[in-house]
Amino acid sequence: MPEETPRLAGKVAVVTGAAGGIGAASARRLSHEGARVVVVDIDGDGAQQVAAELPGPAVAVTGDVSREEDVENYVRAALDTFGRLDLHHLNAGITGPFEDLADLSVADFDRVLGVNVRGPFLGVRAAFRRYREQGTGGAIVITASIASLRGSHDLLAYQTSKHGVLGLMRGAAMYGGPIGVRVNAVAPGLVPTGLFTAAKDASGGGDDMIRRGTTVPLRRTGTPDEVASVVAFLLSDDAAYVHGEVISVDGGSAIVSSVRPSGGAGAWDTTAVDERSKETS
Ligand SMILES: NC(=O)c1ccc[n+]([C@@H]2O[C@H](COP(=O)([O-])OP(=O)(O)OC[C@H]3O[C@@H](n4cnc5c(N)ncnc54)[C@H](O)[C@@H]3O)[C@@H](O)[C@H]2O)c1
Repeated sequence: MPEETPRLAGKVAVVTGAAGGIGAASARRLSHEGARVVVVDIDGDGAQQVAAELPGPAVAVTGDVSREEDVENYVRAALDTFGRLDLHHLNAGITGPFEDLADLSVADFDRVLGVNVRGPFLGVRAAFRRYREQGTGGAIVITASIASLRGSHDLLAYQTSKHGVLGLMRGAAMYGGPIGVRVNAVAPGLVPTGLFTAAKDASGGGDDMIRRGTTVPLRRTGTPDEVASVVAFLLSDDAAYVHGEVISVDGGSAIVSSVRPSGGAGAWDTTAVDERSKETS
């Protein structure tokens, strides 16, 4: 049997937040599928390490996605190294503090919105500028979240930002459709990564994620590789007619009806949750 050409052969891809977690898995997956990869992260050492371990050509760039000049810099690095840019996985994100709504500071709110919304906006804008220069189409995937689709108050700034990226994604898809640029989002559910470890054993952080994973319809948490495979699909021509879509990668979490017994209604006592709200309000 002749060897098949990998489906992303010839493409150059940028992945942001690629020093760990979902971004590193995406960089690996895109590289395995034939893309040359620009590994971007605020953690420069981590980005270097991931880039060095990829099976194909790669370059690491240290940068903060919320800063205009850093975004311009990673595009320049892609051009200097590989001469073009075709695919973007705009993935870098932070949770912000596990703070009660009433105590959330403006500075923390702005910081989360800066990385999670301004970052993808700058990335999308840079992508469109590049495609215009090249005279080509392209493909963009933004990492959204189940927090883009459902409500909770313990990560208020995060939830606000992740709802925001869907507006960005849909607007960019409307802009990009007629000029051959596909834009989509993935919405992971519970995926143990470095993102929540800072919260240690706080409710909603660290090991708690594994425990909460047992309530997901698939009864487990997901893996970064399981998100990365959907990203690779969306960035490839296999998804040539998928556009302006958000695909949940959450083991079924987003389909649960919380008002039916099969969705958990009545299965626990909310007193502890309500008491906590009263204490902190
Ligand atoms: N892990 C989950 O359960 C989960 C669920 C839903 C959505 N997400 C989203 O997935 C994306 C990746 O998260 P993860 O779980 O892999 O977390 P992670 O913390 O393992 O990885 C995030 C990466 O982004 C980098 N980063 C942070 N701020 C940055 C900045 N300003 N500029 C550049 N890089 C920056 C970090 O250094 C880190 O390497 C995030 O957008 C997150 O909101 C994660």
